Amino acid sequence: MKILVGEDYKQMSRKAANIISAQILMKPDCVLGLATGSTPIGTYDQLVDWYNKGDLDFSKVTTINLDEYKGLEPTNDQSYRYFMNTHLFDRVNINKAYTNVPNGLEPDSVKACNEYNEIINKSGGIDLQLLGLGLNGHIGFNEPGSAFEKETHCVDLTESTIQANSRFFDSFDKVPKQAYTMGIKTIMQAKKIVVVVNGANKAQIVKDAFFGPVTPLVPASVLQLHNDVTLVGDKEALSLVLDYVK
Ligand code: F6R
Repeated sequence: MKILVGEDYKQMSRKAANIISAQILMKPDCVLGLATGSTPIGTYDQLVDWYNKGDLDFSKVTTINLDEYKGLEPTNDQSYRYFMNTHLFDRVNINKAYTNVPNGLEPDSVKACNEYNEIINKSGGIDLQLLGLGLNGHIGFNEPGSAFEKETHCVDLTESTIQANSRFFDSFDKVPKQAYTMGIKTIMQAKKIVVVVNGANKAQIVKDAFFGPVTPLVPASVLQLHNDVTLVGDKEALSLVLDYVK
């Protein structure tokens, strides 16, 4: 595993964007696996910046996102499709027909997940997968205890996630209770993986995930078994592992 340290969030985002940008330059019709969440926002901003300067062309790029809430319309501002449109897709020259997010409006979970697995397989495989890291070590919506061999599947959100999300919705009933997510197996099949982390609250889980035992109790720990992982973080998130970098 490679570790890249940024002085701060902006520098860390720039380093992550650099890897993605190099991927697009080397293979203009590449397949990017993308993540939502607060961490990659700066990475997307940096990519948009370079696009605006004329340095990047997304016209042939295909994207496949990690996850989506079940039951949310793409126009709902809490949906991951809405997030991706806002932070990246609407700001660059990507062909929207080449952007993929699990279909949250498909009520039949088996159908939704099979269709998504087919999209991933037909794409020829993910060249570069961008990941954030949950405080409990989750990647995508693969929470602690998730089996390592799963492809796209439907997960029941934990009570605490539902509770935490309820502040974004008019009523508790409208908070999604399930989500579709790529499984760990799908993630591990990506040719290259870039994990972005920032902030002191991620320091302990970064250490556990990348330098602790490989266990389903810390889903991201499986990444230790992948042969092309780059961990990109700011100094705070990497504070407990900086000794390993030297
Ligand atoms: C996002 C996703 C999640 C986040 C994780 C970290 O598509 O699947 O696993 O990457 O929850 O989120 P942030 O970046 O907000 O700390």
